[in-house]
Amino acid sequence: MLEEIKNTAAFIRSRLGEFRPEVGIVLGTGLGDFADRIAAHTIIDYKEIPGFPVSTVEGHKGRLIFGEIGGRRVVAMQGRFHYYEGYTMQQVTFPIRVMQQLGIRYLFVSNASGGINTSFRTGDLMVITDHINLMPNPLIGPNLAELGPRFPDMHNCYDRELIAAATRIAEEEGIKLQYGVYVGGTGPTFETQAEYRYFKAIGGDAAGMSTVPEVIVARHMSIPVFGVSVITNCGLSDEVGDHEDVQRQGRKAGAKMQTLFIRMIENLK
Ligand code: HPA
Repeated sequence: MLEEIKNTAAFIRSRLGEFRPEVGIVLGTGLGDFADRIAAHTIIDYKEIPGFPVSTVEGHKGRLIFGEIGGRRVVAMQGRFHYYEGYTMQQVTFPIRVMQQLGIRYLFVSNASGGINTSFRTGDLMVITDHINLMPNPLIGPNLAELGPRFPDMHNCYDRELIAAATRIAEEEGIKLQYGVYVGGTGPTFETQAEYRYFKAIGGDAAGMSTVPEVIVARHMSIPVFGVSVITNCGLSDEVGDHEDVQRQGRKAGAKMQTLFIRMIENLK
């Protein structure tokens, strides 16, 4: 496994010349447009990368974009891998480990989710303050000690300083932020009404099908994480979850999310 990660990183380095990313970004549903704002240095399709799975979900492109944004060198994943697509957790999280080998010092993640906090509205941005994992843990199996410890600490999983920076920046930019706990389930079904109520009862504010595996693997490697979720539907209302709605709401909230991410990246130490 470690050898595969290193081989893939070596392949990518061979395409990058001197360029090394400092920040990794995972672009979620509907937020692919962010990629257009990156001054690209090198773009590599997942299908060209040895060891990379290939993305299958509609609306998700599959490529790594290396370039500059907010005065920083970044690598953005345009299209992520979901457990519900049938990939193993090792495959879902493989790109994050490769990005770490390439030298990223921060991970920014975005996703779409269903609001279960009844004060949330469709189109809101929720800063992820914590998560509840209802998927298999990606660290099950032999520990890759070179990457991190057997029993990683999950306090401060979503970096408090980055959250504080987001609050400051959102105030300056006039962007309204919600804050909350992301509950990661396997999908691909949206939740039943009883499941949304259950997620709320256990302390969740939003329900989604991604992000948690990537964040766990990043924290295993001690990489600070910042995550934002677009609330694309409200689980406890009578409306029905629908993939197209999710995509549409994701695009609408995209502009706010882009501004927030760019200013956050500019402000990194
Ligand atoms: N549940 C799970 N994942 C989601 C939802 C939802 O309601 N909306 C967008 N992604």
